[in-house]
Amino acid sequence: MEPKSIVKGKIHYIGVNDRNKNLFEGMWPLPYGVSYNSYLINDEKIVLVDTVDINFFEIYLRKIKNIIGEKPIDYLIINHMEPDHSGSIRLITQHYPNIQIVGNKQTFGMIEGFYGVTENQYMIVDGDSLDVGYHKLRFYITPMVHWPETMMTFDETDGVLFSGDAFGCFGTLDGGFIDKKINIDKYWGEMVRYYSNIVGKYGGPVQKALQKLKHLNIMYICPTHGPVWNEYKDKVGGIYNQLSKYEAEEGVVIAYGSMYGNTEEMAEAIAQELSYKGIKNIVMHNVAKSHSSYIIADIFRYKGLIIGSPTYSNQIYPEIESLLSKILIRDIKDRYLGLFGSFTWAGAAVKRMGEFAEKSKFELVSTPIEMKQAMKEQTYQQCYELAEAMAKRLKQDA
Ligand code: FEO
Repeated sequence: MEPKSIVKGKIHYIGVNDRNKNLFEGMWPLPYGVSYNSYLINDEKIVLVDTVDINFFEIYLRKIKNIIGEKPIDYLIINHMEPDHSGSIRLITQHYPNIQIVGNKQTFGMIEGFYGVTENQYMIVDGDSLDVGYHKLRFYITPMVHWPETMMTFDETDGVLFSGDAFGCFGTLDGGFIDKKINIDKYWGEMVRYYSNIVGKYGGPVQKALQKLKHLNIMYICPTHGPVWNEYKDKVGGIYNQLSKYEAEEGVVIAYGSMYGNTEEMAEAIAQELSYKGIKNIVMHNVAKSHSSYIIADIFRYKGLIIGSPTYSNQIYPEIESLLSKILIRDIKDRYLGLFGSFTWAGAAVKRMGEFAEKSKFELVSTPIEMKQAMKEQTYQQCYELAEAMAKRLKQDA
């Protein structure tokens, strides 16, 4: 009987699940947890592909030994050095002192810096191959997806792509690990949130990587997070392609802050009018309550963005300032923008959001609205006009 861990050929899944961590990278909530995926090729040569977070090393080592017993491992391929995957490198080299570490010229400095490991380096360049028996591996260097050393390994025998973070998502693997054998509903939203927050800044490099991979006959995608993709590999490729081109659906994200509900009333008026004008996808986020990772994911999803902020201590509302910074860091492109704000005794928020509009290069659909203290007839009118301008701009694309 075929071992339960087989992906294809002699490739085994040996990843682990993290249901304890609250925040990935110390920032991103994990309501469904996260998996750290590693793979073992039990061929004439024995090969590990990436490792796992160091906290799971005991479980990881047991999984390895369950498959190969006390045999030595020949190669450890490092597709990505972020410590959620590279964390076990030092312990692996202690258990397998003759293991050759396969990486590119960007990899080894990081291995020395993080783990003090300087020996048994097997340096590859783009397009190099490694014959390990039944499986024939080829390496593709794909820098900045999403670190400089990132690369992918392709098994030409069975069409298995070890893609690093690319095509990955949040969410643990609860039992099975191949898409066709598990319920994958929870992963789609988590894929957009994962991509937009972790990789989102690097749309250009992701596009270059996709171009490099497009001639390959890929049957299985083995990312470092989330399911192994087989049945849904094309859908996953399509999602990554769309997100990395910053393409978005018709819809509007309204992200606002509000201390006593007055700015929120502006948001409500805008949303109501957007709906009246035929926009179905409207997502409203109170920035003090919604975690920014969900707001960023929705901004990647939808073409329209309307931001509202009160003035706080003669400054922009801090949670809105933080959101604007996160949008700029990700270098999100080609969105339609609307702005509204409020003040009690001196206005600052709208001015500061105007600076954001310039930096982001988003297209302002109308003049920003500034409200003093509370809603008036004129404010409702201004909110309707902003919504109408946004709806009209979105419908021009339809
Ligand atoms: Fe999953 Fe970039 O580490």
